[in-house]
Amino acid sequence: MTGDVPTQAQVDEVVAEWKTRQNVPSYVFDAIRALPRDSHPMVMLSVGIMAMQKDSKFAAFYNSGKFNKMVAWESVYEDASDIVARIPIVAAFIYNLKYKGDKQIAIDPKLDMGANFAHMIGQSDQYKDVARMYFILHSDHESGNVSAHTTHLVHSALSDPYYAYSAGLNGLAGPLHGLANQEVLGWIMEFQKKLNGAEPTKENVTKALWDTLNAGQVVPGYGHAVLRKTDPRYTAQREFCLATPGLKDDSLFKLVAMIFETAPGVLTEHGKTKNPWPNVDAQSGVIQWYYGVKEWDFYTVLFGVGRALGCMANITWDRGLGYAIERPKSVTTDMLEKWAAEGGRKF
Ligand SMILES: CC(C)(COP(=O)(O)OP(=O)(O)OC[C@H]1O[C@@H](n2cnc3c(N)ncnc32)[C@H](O)[C@@H]1OP(=O)(O)O)[C@@H](O)C(=O)NCCC(=O)NCCS
Repeated sequence: MTGDVPTQAQVDEVVAEWKTRQNVPSYVFDAIRALPRDSHPMVMLSVGIMAMQKDSKFAAFYNSGKFNKMVAWESVYEDASDIVARIPIVAAFIYNLKYKGDKQIAIDPKLDMGANFAHMIGQSDQYKDVARMYFILHSDHESGNVSAHTTHLVHSALSDPYYAYSAGLNGLAGPLHGLANQEVLGWIMEFQKKLNGAEPTKENVTKALWDTLNAGQVVPGYGHAVLRKTDPRYTAQREFCLATPGLKDDSLFKLVAMIFETAPGVLTEHGKTKNPWPNVDAQSGVIQWYYGVKEWDFYTVLFGVGRALGCMANITWDRGLGYAIERPKSVTTDMLEKWAAEGGRKF
């Protein structure tokens, strides 16, 4: 919210505060359970967030007849805090529902957000740090990406944070955005199958990359709309792998490292992408896989839990600053043609 690194006392205060907000109503779970079990977990997450909308404090304030835009941010902050506190619980529920035969594990009220998530999906103590790292690295950082921008756009109509974040999650579910981490694992698994037990080498990785490009597909986990270098979130996760005994020698990590050595050269030679370097999604699945979270269609849900931290802070600020409804400029074909004829100068 403030851009400051908090003191331990401030962290403890926030953790304690979120604990008071973790109570997810049972109808949220009922709504998710009513979906076909083979629905994508992102659908389940989006539905789970929408199901909580009826408790929106912002919507209640708006409908109270006392709506005042000078203080509207306060009820956005309330909803934002509720969403951040509850989303890991909804995510853990989805994980257990889909992959663990609906065997649910109760919250441990002593634990922080990451540790509690690890506990609720039946993970090891080691995974607690993975969850903490994952959620922080995936929280939004600049607000222009699809999920953060969608959340901002929808909230700009004074739709409450539940409507706004559910919409943001629907954007995150796109393969060019958050779903890329699922795609990366799918690509790697397909490649491993083709290797049929052989070691990955620069030669066979190069061939697999060209096969993908020649088939008119993108190499998942590479490229970025803004960055023009290796994504620092990729580097942070790579360093985590290198510093974790077992993980640094893991065959999947070695393959990802080999792709890191090879893909930038291939993409540069291919000549299309403005950024041939890896993004956050190129590395994250490997860590999850190593710790036993092998259901890769769930990876975008993990992304969505972390991203809530940033998106909810963003829209609290939107209301604090009184941003107007967002409305991009519209142009006609005639205007575009005139613009092109004049050499494409800026409008
Ligand atoms: C992230 C991404 C959507 C950014 O798109 P962008 O801003 O349009 O990127 P660029 O300006 O570099 O794209 C220019 C061209 O290079 C292509 N390109 C970009 N990244 C590519 C990749 N990883 N593999 C193959 N081609 C790629 C684009 O598809 C585009 O081709 P086109 O002119 O035929 O449409 C894109 O790099 C991508 O699709 N990456 C793979 C998916 C991914 O990892 N997404 C997660 C992002 S955090």
